[in-house]
Amino acid sequence: MTEWKDFSALVEMTDVDMFTWNKLKRPIVGLSPMADFTDTPFCLISKKLGAPLVYREMVSADALVRLNEKTLGMAKFHKDERPVIQQIFGSDPDRMAEAARIIEGRFKPDGIDINMGCPAHKIVKGFHGASLMKNSDLAANIIRSVKNAVSIPVSVKTRLGWKDDRDILEFVKVLEDAGADLIAIHGRTKEQAYSGVANWDRVGEARKNVKVPVLVNGDIVSVETAKDALARSNADGMLIARGALGNPWIFQRILSGLETGKDPGAPTMEERLNVIREHARLQVKHHGEKGLVQLRKHFPWYFKGIKGTRALRADLVQVSTLEDLEEVLNKI
Ligand SMILES: Cc1cc2nc3c(=O)[nH]c(=O)nc-3n(C[C@H](O)[C@H](O)[C@H](O)COP(=O)(O)O)c2cc1C
Repeated sequence: MTEWKDFSALVEMTDVDMFTWNKLKRPIVGLSPMADFTDTPFCLISKKLGAPLVYREMVSADALVRLNEKTLGMAKFHKDERPVIQQIFGSDPDRMAEAARIIEGRFKPDGIDINMGCPAHKIVKGFHGASLMKNSDLAANIIRSVKNAVSIPVSVKTRLGWKDDRDILEFVKVLEDAGADLIAIHGRTKEQAYSGVANWDRVGEARKNVKVPVLVNGDIVSVETAKDALARSNADGMLIARGALGNPWIFQRILSGLETGKDPGAPTMEERLNVIREHARLQVKHHGEKGLVQLRKHFPWYFKGIKGTRALRADLVQVSTLEDLEEVLNKI
């Protein structure tokens, strides 16, 4: 079992060397932002198990500007999460700039990322997220405003387009011209949401149109898919979202597979259970015991595809305390 560091209190600000995307080893392999999932406990677990970089879930620029306590709390991170990128969403350039300034001033993450890809109705209806792909001028204004407001790198995470998967070919140029330091592309359109398959070739075509680094995203779940996505996109690296849920070992497996050609393989059941215990301990530490209720959504992922765990998964979504959890895990 890996030895765990004591993850002490969250820091609001630490002095760090200035991060730049160029400092990261290629190919870049990072945890992609996921609302309600990529919080401090999961990012710490991912880092500890080998993720070279993590993106924190999106936070609302409008709420940050109102200094909403809950939203500010979501943007806090632990120093061991570094390099950590905080994503923001919104559509008003001034409020986006102010939100980025607040985040940099209070927490100093290594980078700010702008969400230009979220397809959820509640996000696009306010012209946030994926809607920005429909208005290049506004998207560019947001980038320029945020860049002027902060000294840390500013990246964009987007999709292939709203409806047409060729829109990205021009859109990346707009993002680069406005000053984006890196562009991460999920190889699907907004209309596809999560259906179909990610088009890594199209990401590769877009990649040829810009000089800034590009990360490929979508459907990377193994060493093989990682190799294929990199070969087809020629990207500088990748972001992994669903493939990391209940599977934070994916980062070391992919890195090892790419570097040495050897995949260390899936964890043993004992390793799996110990990581779940550690995840739960961190969850309680950072969110209090109520945090275990929020953790219930992670549990089924840890046993995805493992035969004979149906009853166990049903028990796990009922746990409310660390003792409950231990009781269920001890039955295995
Ligand atoms: C539960 C969930 C929450 C997500 N939240 C965000 C988010 O906050 N910001 C963002 O840019 N993308 C978000 N995404 C999209 C992922 O970062 C990623 O682009 C997408 O899932 C495709 O990658 P994958 O095939 O590796 O999952 C989310 C995806 C999921 C499944």
